[in-house]
Amino acid sequence: MTEPYRACITGLGSYLPEKVLSNFDLEKMVETTDEWIRSRTGIRERHIAEKGTSSSDLGVNAARQAIKNAGLTVSDIELIIVATITPDMLFPSTACMIQHKLGAECGAFDMAAACAGFPYATAVADAFIRSGIHKHILVVGAEVLSGFIDWSDRATCVLFGDGAGAAVVSRSEDEGGIIASYLGSDGAQADILKIPGGGSAHPTTNETVADRMHYLKMEGSEVFKVAVRTMDAAVREVIKRGGIQLDQVDWVIPHQANMRILTAVGERLKISMDKVVVNVERYGNMSSASTVVALHEAVADGKVKKGDYVVLVAFGGGLTWAATLIHW
Ligand code: UT7
Repeated sequence: MTEPYRACITGLGSYLPEKVLSNFDLEKMVETTDEWIRSRTGIRERHIAEKGTSSSDLGVNAARQAIKNAGLTVSDIELIIVATITPDMLFPSTACMIQHKLGAECGAFDMAAACAGFPYATAVADAFIRSGIHKHILVVGAEVLSGFIDWSDRATCVLFGDGAGAAVVSRSEDEGGIIASYLGSDGAQADILKIPGGGSAHPTTNETVADRMHYLKMEGSEVFKVAVRTMDAAVREVIKRGGIQLDQVDWVIPHQANMRILTAVGERLKISMDKVVVNVERYGNMSSASTVVALHEAVADGKVKKGDYVVLVAFGGGLTWAATLIHW
């Protein structure tokens, strides 16, 4: 039985805070060099939010742009899903903050899938649209990672940046749109990428603060290996589910964690790097915002054209990984 509806992305938006922190700025903060950061990660600079700016502040700006680009108004939005690992508060959800700031009247909830949050949230939006429940859903990836990074830890502080992206996922009766999604997880590897403090396992105490448990912790080389393996596998699985071959893929839009990871994934897939969208040099790793901002740029630059097959693919803490196949 064919489903009555398809979902497609009808509008995209991004918002990057104004302040730029270069590798040379970081050289003055920790023992590192521009050369080390560029050769190990590909990153040159990242945007950093002013103190007092929350993820919903960034997210609402990206959301307004996406709604406008979709040719819609806020009153058309029937559900808001926000992917973030840096919520405004433990609760209420950042989605509720964005709903209020937008002046929307609809349901709103957050999605906890770390850096894979955007393809995870897009899969949920796709299911709501396919089922006929909603017509227009706002999906936002928004992060103020700068507030959760240990600025004295050179192994992590050089990697991340702040930013937000948003997409409107709408009902479509065309053949194209979101064709398939694939979601994966492995909680056995939760320890290699996490913010351990502040949740119910380790509520905030003087000790958790003194032990720096509220900062992002990562076993970089372990994460690196899993990232390459899971992103390769996720791309292969989603195109299989979508019924297309690798050589039909026009664009791979991966989570922007590290240039070396992107190159390794491209090599494993035997896909030319000309087909892999990369912007990590300008933004660093923006967790859930990375994939959607890269998609927005690729569409705005005219790279992604109507009829193209686009694969979004991401991995992150959880561990989680996910991919979305879109016939643009
Ligand atoms: O979105 C999810 C997340 N995260 C990722 O995808 C990150 C995945 N991992 C990575 O991108 C890489 O593992 C890193 C970029 C984090 C690290 O690269 P690496 O090639 O795995 O380096 P390493 O951790 O093995 O460290 C190599 C050396 C170490 O020194 P020794 O022990 O060899 O003397 C580190 O102490 O580099 C040192 N190092 C640094 N040196 C200068 C670590 N960070 C820095 C730094 N500047 N910022």
